[in-house]
Amino acid sequence: MRPLHPVEGNRLALSGLDVSHAGGRYLGWLHDPEVTRFLEARLVDYDLDRLSAYIRAENERSDAVLFGMFLRQSGQFVGTIKLSNIRTTHRSCNIALMIGDKALWGRGYGTEAIALASGYAFDALNLHKILAGCYANNLASAGAFLKAGYGVEGRLTDDRWDGHRFVDCILLGKLNPSETDLSVAPNSRKETE
Ligand SMILES: CC(C)(COP(=O)(O)OP(=O)(O)OC[C@H]1O[C@@H](n2cnc3c(N)ncnc32)[C@H](O)[C@@H]1OP(=O)(O)O)[C@@H](O)C(=O)NCCC(=O)NCCS
Repeated sequence: MRPLHPVEGNRLALSGLDVSHAGGRYLGWLHDPEVTRFLEARLVDYDLDRLSAYIRAENERSDAVLFGMFLRQSGQFVGTIKLSNIRTTHRSCNIALMIGDKALWGRGYGTEAIALASGYAFDALNLHKILAGCYANNLASAGAFLKAGYGVEGRLTDDRWDGHRFVDCILLGKLNPSETDLSVAPNSRKETE
C-alpha cells in the first residue's frame, strides 16, 4: 500500500514512491555492489521496467509500505525504507532500508529513517512489533537499528550466503513503546491474561 501520509523528521522526509522514481539514481543504487552488498536486491538484475514493476507491485500490496527517503532541505531522493510482511492478526511487520547515496552513510540518516518508519508502523498502522534481520557483518545496519531503539532478539547461524561464505543473520526487534507497560511485572501480567 502507499503510505497514508508522509512522515517528517529533522533531516529526512519519508513519502510514497511511484514509477517516476525508478530511473536514474534508484536504478544506479541497485547496480552498485557496495550498496547492495547486504541486500537481496543484488540477486535481481533490475532494469527500468523491472524496477517500475516492483514499485507498482509494492504500492498495490496490502501487506507492505514502500517509502522513499528524501532530504527535507533539498528534496533529494536518497534511499528507500520498506515495511513488509505486515500481519494484522499479530500486528507485526518486517523492516529493511537502503541509503543509496553513499556520501550520506555514517551520518545518522539510517537511524533517523528507521525511527521515522517505526513511528509510522506503530502510530499509523497500529502495529505492536517490528523485526529486522541483518547480515552479522553489516555493522552499520546493526548499529543503526540499535541506535533507533531496537534490541537483539537472536542470531540465525549461517543463514545468508554472501557470495563467498555463509554468514549469520542478526534479528533485531522493537515493540510499540506505547504498549510496553514496564510497570506491570511479567508474572502478574500473565495471571490477568
Ligand atoms: C545500513 C545503513 C542503513 C546504515 O545507515 P547509516 O546512516 O550509514 O548509519 P548511521 O549513521 O545511522 O549509524 C548508526 C550507528 O551504526 C554504527 N555504524 C554506522 N556505520 C558503521 C560502520 N561503517 N561500521 C561500524 N559501525 C557503524 C555506529 O554505531 C553508528 O552510530 P554513531 O555514528 O553514533 O557511532 C546504510 O549504511 C545503508 O543503507 N547501507 C547499504 C544498504 C544496507 O546495508 N541496508 C541494510 C540492510 S538490513
